[in-house]
Amino acid sequence: MKDQFIATVSHELRTPLTSIKGSLGLLSGGAAGPLPSKAQALLSTAERNAQRLFALINDLLDMEKLVAGKMPMNLRVQPVAPLLDEIIESMWGYSAQHQVAIQMPDDWPSALINVDAPRLAQALTNLLSNAIKFSPQGEAVEVRVKTYADTIEISVCDHGPGIDPIFRAHLFQRFSQADGSDTRKLPGTGLGLAISQEICKQMGGEVGYRDAVGGGADFFIVLPREA
Ligand SMILES: Nc1ncnc2c1ncn2[C@@H]1O[C@H](COP(=O)(O)OP(=O)(O)OP(=O)(O)O)[C@@H](O)[C@H]1O
Ligand SMILES: [Mg+2]
Repeated sequence: MKDQFIATVSHELRTPLTSIKGSLGLLSGGAAGPLPSKAQALLSTAERNAQRLFALINDLLDMEKLVAGKMPMNLRVQPVAPLLDEIIESMWGYSAQHQVAIQMPDDWPSALINVDAPRLAQALTNLLSNAIKFSPQGEAVEVRVKTYADTIEISVCDHGPGIDPIFRAHLFQRFSQADGSDTRKLPGTGLGLAISQEICKQMGGEVGYRDAVGGGADFFIVLPREA
């Protein structure tokens, strides 16, 4: 009942918001003529926040679909390496903005996995964005891959504050955040890890957590390996 309510409301919010975003984009692109710089600054704030709201609504809808088992999964057996390259490349802008480097090995191990590529990207992007968001400026986030006989592990390790042992039990629950206060410094809704976990489970794997060696968080995705 609650999930259905969230899904319906989210869906109804998305249509007007799409139009708001479109109009703001047109205005800031000069469609209604040049704007004074103060107006341009206010518009960028509006655009940025419309984008955040849009991302939140999409997360709510994704979560509802995943929980209801209605998220389509187009599984395909494919090599892991190009997937990782593409996902990491898509994070360069975000990592540069936060001044946090993404480190990775020169070569990925050759292994095949049976996944829905955009969904794996969504799951791993969530882990990467957390690692970057919680890293102190100037620190690096490391992506590693380990292969075993039947599984493959993709890990994202950071040198931020790590996860308090008391919070660990709630880590993958929807809307759970170590700092759930309104005055929280970092943006987010607490849906990222719940979505990543659900996506990975539906691909026959899971997301896990361990403390990083030397302090920080180490989140990993384990997936069945095809070859
Ligand atoms: N790498 C990390 N380092 C420290 N804390 C983390 C890390 N990743 C997750 N957390 C903690 O787990 C909480 C839940 O993470 P999750 O990704 O689900 O939500 P979020 O990042 O707060 O919001 P969203 O992903 O929905 O934008 C975070 O708010 C934070 O308290
Ligand atoms: Mg997150």
